[in-house]
Amino acid sequence: MTAKIAGIGAYVPERIVTNDDLAKIVETSDEWIYSRTGIRERHISTGEGTKELATEAARRALLASGVRPEDLDLIILGTSSPDHNFPSDACGVQAALGAVNAVAFDISAACAGFIFAMNIVQGFFMAGVYKTALIIGAETLSKVTDWGDRSTCVLFGDGAGAAVLKSSEDGGILDMVMGADGTKGSALSCTSRTLGNFLLGTAPQTGFMAMDGQEVFRFAVRKIPESVELLLKKTGISRQEIKYYVLHQANERIIEAAAKRLGEPMKKFPTSIARYGNTSSASIPLLLNEMQGRGMLEKGDTLILSGFGAGMTWGAVLLEW
Ligand code: UT7
Repeated sequence: MTAKIAGIGAYVPERIVTNDDLAKIVETSDEWIYSRTGIRERHISTGEGTKELATEAARRALLASGVRPEDLDLIILGTSSPDHNFPSDACGVQAALGAVNAVAFDISAACAGFIFAMNIVQGFFMAGVYKTALIIGAETLSKVTDWGDRSTCVLFGDGAGAAVLKSSEDGGILDMVMGADGTKGSALSCTSRTLGNFLLGTAPQTGFMAMDGQEVFRFAVRKIPESVELLLKKTGISRQEIKYYVLHQANERIIEAAAKRLGEPMKKFPTSIARYGNTSSASIPLLLNEMQGRGMLEKGDTLILSGFGAGMTWGAVLLEW
């Protein structure tokens, strides 16, 4: 049995923040941001939390799939910006949906979160443990963004994407790869917020995101082609059979570099980064949802989804739509 996407949905907060808006709060410009990243604007929450974004995306995915909340066995939410340390946002989503029969938990794999969630579901389905699952990538990174740091605050956006997966005898996920390299963890990190420790006399920590952009860039440009090549080798599927490569939307230059290394044309790499920025775990389902809305996906299409992010983590899935 494999995991097959039965429905997809997405949701972003209403408020759009353009590059020109950001140029009013830090020393930057639309020209710098667009030419270095491909980003024009992003959606930023004005109060909705990760759980609210996730729940709305999930509702839309359920509607598209025809699956009722009570039919779900499993809910996995990939996020790096949960509303609470505990309880998990996945449990909050379960309650909001009334998915009374589902076990629910969050996973922390940063921008690879949606891919990791998909692969965990595939494992449960292959083992025959569960049959119907909801996976979500949802972020409100705006709350851990240092709005005075121009090297990171121009990159990220808030949003959520979700997919309902059903156990299937054919199609769906054909193979997957996942990896992690904790030795490079400091390249992209966000410490916990604390009020300090009265015993040690340590100071409070603000808990903002910090990134070595160039290191992450190099890592991504190496890891994406590597995992795609590995998947093609494992499955014996040729590049010609891949209709689209749906990559994590972190930087258009990363996507172009990966396409070049793979020797594939950019038309096989759809993007949505211009409108959403980097929405971390939400970027892949957000893009898939747009592609479906535009009629770009047909039953039987072969796709590769690929994500990478803090950890460092990476993962890719080869699937039949
Ligand atoms: O989901 C995974 C998350 N992260 C990523 O994937 C990020 C991967 N990395 C990147 O996308 C790129 O490294 C960035 C877009 C973050 C940066 O682009 P870059 O071409 O690597 O620029 P840089 O860091 O080398 O900075 C070049 C210059 C610096 O000035 P000096 O030292 O040359 O005078 C920066 O201070 O650009 C300056 N700079 C800015 N200027 C205007 C940095 N941020 C900005 C800004 N506006 N927002």
